[in-house]
Amino acid sequence: MRTHYCGDVTAADIGKPVTVSGWVHRRRDHGGVIFIDLRDREGLLQVVFDPSSPVFSAGEKLRSEFVVTVTGKVRPRPQGTVNPKLKTGEVELLAAELTLLNTSETPPFHHDEDVSEELRLKYRYLDLRRGEMLERFRLRHRITQSLRRFLDDHGFMDVETPVLTRTTPEGARDYIVPSRTHPGQFFALPQSPQLFKQILMMSGFDRYYQIARCFRDEDLRADRQPEFTQIDIETSFMDERQFMEIMETMIRTLFREVAGIELPPLPRMTYAEAIARFGIDRPDLSIPLELVEVADLMTGVEFKVFAGPAADPDGRVTALRIPGGGALTRKEIDDYTAFVANYGAKGLAYIKVNEVAKGRDGLQSPIMKFLPDATVQGLISRLQLKDGDLVFFGADKKKVVNDSLAALRVKVGRDLKMVKPGWHPLWVVDFPMFEWDPKEKRWGALHHPFTAPSVDDVEALEKDPGKALSRAYDMVLNGNEIGGGSIRIHSSAMQSAVFRILGITPEEAESKFGFLLRALRFGAPPHGGLAFGLDRLVMLLAGTDNIRDVIAFPKTQTASCLLTEAPGPVSQQQLRETGIRIREPGK
Ligand code: AMO
Ligand code: AMP
Repeated sequence: MRTHYCGDVTAADIGKPVTVSGWVHRRRDHGGVIFIDLRDREGLLQVVFDPSSPVFSAGEKLRSEFVVTVTGKVRPRPQGTVNPKLKTGEVELLAAELTLLNTSETPPFHHDEDVSEELRLKYRYLDLRRGEMLERFRLRHRITQSLRRFLDDHGFMDVETPVLTRTTPEGARDYIVPSRTHPGQFFALPQSPQLFKQILMMSGFDRYYQIARCFRDEDLRADRQPEFTQIDIETSFMDERQFMEIMETMIRTLFREVAGIELPPLPRMTYAEAIARFGIDRPDLSIPLELVEVADLMTGVEFKVFAGPAADPDGRVTALRIPGGGALTRKEIDDYTAFVANYGAKGLAYIKVNEVAKGRDGLQSPIMKFLPDATVQGLISRLQLKDGDLVFFGADKKKVVNDSLAALRVKVGRDLKMVKPGWHPLWVVDFPMFEWDPKEKRWGALHHPFTAPSVDDVEALEKDPGKALSRAYDMVLNGNEIGGGSIRIHSSAMQSAVFRILGITPEEAESKFGFLLRALRFGAPPHGGLAFGLDRLVMLLAGTDNIRDVIAFPKTQTASCLLTEAPGPVSQQQLRETGIRIREPGK
């Protein structure tokens, strides 16, 4: 039905007969002559229906999104009507034959119309016809091609792992699937292929990868989907240094191949340093602002808001110096105060630096009266205050200060246009092995329970779990965690100890992960790996901040699909077969 894609017809085809097929993008009636922009995957081609043409009257009946095949001769556009913005802008097709392949109802929105995401998702097929969307999926394809090529060339084997499986603890809820053949029993959809890829290492596959779909029933955010894709990787007989080097080369190659970008070398930052300087384990290094510890200057001051957390081992008192921030208005400061309240901060103390040479008289703040001279001098020298600066303070439990000031740092940096251009990747390493969950009153795994501790000593680990660091690493790019992984535990004694620390009883460990513990006893090699979030990588390279823009058929914030209206009810028979009775919601 075609000799050319619409978008591929160029001046080189002038005088030739050409057949193209596609959608009517736009129709214009110019005093007896009809112009159609015909669209296909490769672009637009102007088709002209002359009044003398046998298909003129058929051309008159065409409407937006009708599907047609047109045959005709390519000719140059008349002088002055060349469109340099189009690949096909120098030519047009004079229609001689026209076949109407299908009609279309009037679409609910036009290509260049800005409509709600809800409408776009409901009519996703129309949304995906837009050039901008098509380009994103071409990019996604080029990204997976590049990654696959790299992994294939480096001896990694693509192996598929089950989707109907048992729980893989990655910190989210499982999606569960009832079994018909085992009524009352359920499969879990994998939160990641973690356990299978480790088992493949125990099988001696040595280097594995998979472009794997993962399922996590968790609270959704702009960069999260309940169903997403990982570039999942595992290797044997490599330490973290060697493995991180390969992964770094892979990402560097990817950026070069798909975007012509040379990434700078990736610095390694410890988790402790990231939290101290940025309040977060995925710091956005494009923002040139940093937190500075001031707790020692605040112990014993009259201001309880500062003195309390300064004396609390679980508290933090920190300052964020904003060069030039002194120009912020009272209203802007109030808005930032409301912003940090979203993260639990009870206030946002600040000092404006008018004239630092005047010492405390040159500083302006509602809290000046509470701060003794030594504290003021200490702040001036530690923060290296300059005229025109503003300093924000966070004082509370560590978590509140970190969450609120990490977010504030990025927001202020963006608002004040301080963002450094370009890409700022880094590795974050030396994560704590466990974190204490005060609500549940037990230890949780910071990465996942299969991550190896940095010291291979079961006794020491059990004695002081809070001190232990892990062999985990995350790759972070402009504030996004694009991938993470670790060297794994390959001894069943260590794995059992970690389960014990996590409060998983031997019976529970046996019932959930017995297969892994068993496999570890049959010659498990040292192994480790990582998974990149493909959707996040595509999102960053596509320059969008909405993960749904790079997933063909994404879910909404409430984890539903507006196109298919999934999830939906099932029949009584399906329920009977799987032994399920639905309780009325709320009971
Ligand atoms: P982790 O849970 O860190 O590690 O996931 C790896 C990467 O997957 C991406 N990601 C997501 N992307 C979109 N939506 C989500 N809901 C979502 N959750 C995670 C992130 C993240 O860095 N099995 C381990 C990896 C390993 O240890 O090898 C794992 O899944 O970019
Ligand atoms: P108050 O004593 O509550 O009037 O607070 C005095 C100043 O301290 C105000 O600017 C508050 O925004 C600020 N403030 C209050 N609580 C905190 C906190 N936990 N961290 C930082 N600043 C705070």
